[in-house]
Amino acid sequence: MDNRPTWTSRYTFIVTAIGSAVGLGNIWRFPYVMGQNGGAIFLAVYILLISTICFIPLINELYVGKLTKKECIGAYESINPKFKFLGALNPITGIIIASFYFIVGGWIINYISKSCISYQIQDYESYFSELIQTPVYSCVLTLIFLFICIFVVARGIKNGIEKVNKILMPLLALILLFLVIVSLNLPNSEKGLEYMFKPDFSKLNFQMVLAALGQAFFTLSIGMGALLTYGSYIKEDKSLVKSVYTIIISDTAFAILAGIMIFPAVFSFNLEPNSGAGLVFVTLPRIFSQIPCGNIVSLLFFILLFCAAITSGISIIEGPCATLIERCKISRVKACTILFFVIALLAIPATLSFGTLSNIKILDKSIFDFLDFITSNLMLPLNALFLCLISGWYLKIKSHNIISNKFVMFLFDIGLKFVVPIALLCLIIMGLK
Ligand code: TRP
Repeated sequence: MDNRPTWTSRYTFIVTAIGSAVGLGNIWRFPYVMGQNGGAIFLAVYILLISTICFIPLINELYVGKLTKKECIGAYESINPKFKFLGALNPITGIIIASFYFIVGGWIINYISKSCISYQIQDYESYFSELIQTPVYSCVLTLIFLFICIFVVARGIKNGIEKVNKILMPLLALILLFLVIVSLNLPNSEKGLEYMFKPDFSKLNFQMVLAALGQAFFTLSIGMGALLTYGSYIKEDKSLVKSVYTIIISDTAFAILAGIMIFPAVFSFNLEPNSGAGLVFVTLPRIFSQIPCGNIVSLLFFILLFCAAITSGISIIEGPCATLIERCKISRVKACTILFFVIALLAIPATLSFGTLSNIKILDKSIFDFLDFITSNLMLPLNALFLCLISGWYLKIKSHNIISNKFVMFLFDIGLKFVVPIALLCLIIMGLK
């Protein structure tokens, strides 16, 4: 075949896939969604879903990439030319996700520099809202973050994506473990652990199950062709199932550790665990300012967040980048340059939607919220839904011997054809309400 890149080894593939999965979704979003949905009971439902239902589309997406050895549009097209347009939805989703994901990346850069310089802020809430409302500064931050991700992707699989993941992922794990220890040593930390691990069954409801499902899909990076593209670089992996287990277990471990890092600290200072998106940018800095060596802890925390966001940001860009390279027959550097400008064009209005453009509303939402809403609630689940149906009904994946155990393969097939599509439909319908 042509000169498509491939992974250097199975290890680099797994580390990179884990890098894609472990991102802001685990460290920023997971704790606050958990905080808003009742703590331990949410965690229990989440673990149940991630080890059953989510396993299916994850294997599916990687497998379709591995089978077709093409980027998204080509992969769908080679299953049937009719599906080409469904394939094209994937890189489009990626570009839209990039345009708001990278804004948060920009905020992280600000907090890193803040932790380096000084940490004397009077009111954390107004500091954060001022930051996101300052037009030029926040746009520059977004563009810096975008540039870093694009730069890594432009260097290619071996010298860019693999290298960065091989360095940042172990670093991320080390910092996380250190911060967990710090947090557990704060006074009254056991209250946080209780909140995380002692379920209150009265909080169990359908809405919360869907929130857990949405979170699981987002954190595993399902539904925009990132994994399909990563799968297409696999040379031969006899045990895709084993790799998927490793990815799921690692991703869940990172999310739980992020919770153990955050909740004991929050309870130790008698703060609210359900403060939403500001948990990491408002509540935590307030805690850092009150603990010994807070500056260093703060710096480490935001470096942790930065590493997680970079390795995921890379995966968001690699999908559309591969599509441009293979469909338009252009070089990787050219593809990345085009993507930089396209994403910037969307990301700048989204960044400004916290301040200058805050009165522009689409469906009653700011530009940032709207982009988040149509991708997380509609496009990601819809893409995953299409791919499950295509694999289950059209590709007849049942005959493809992905899983050696016949009964498990039977369950997998049922999941692909019925269970996951129904779950995704519920997610879409409830999400659109
Ligand atoms: N999984 C990443 C996170 O948890 C985000 C992400 C990266 C993503 N690539 C994706 C989400 C593809 C959906 C689709 O932060």
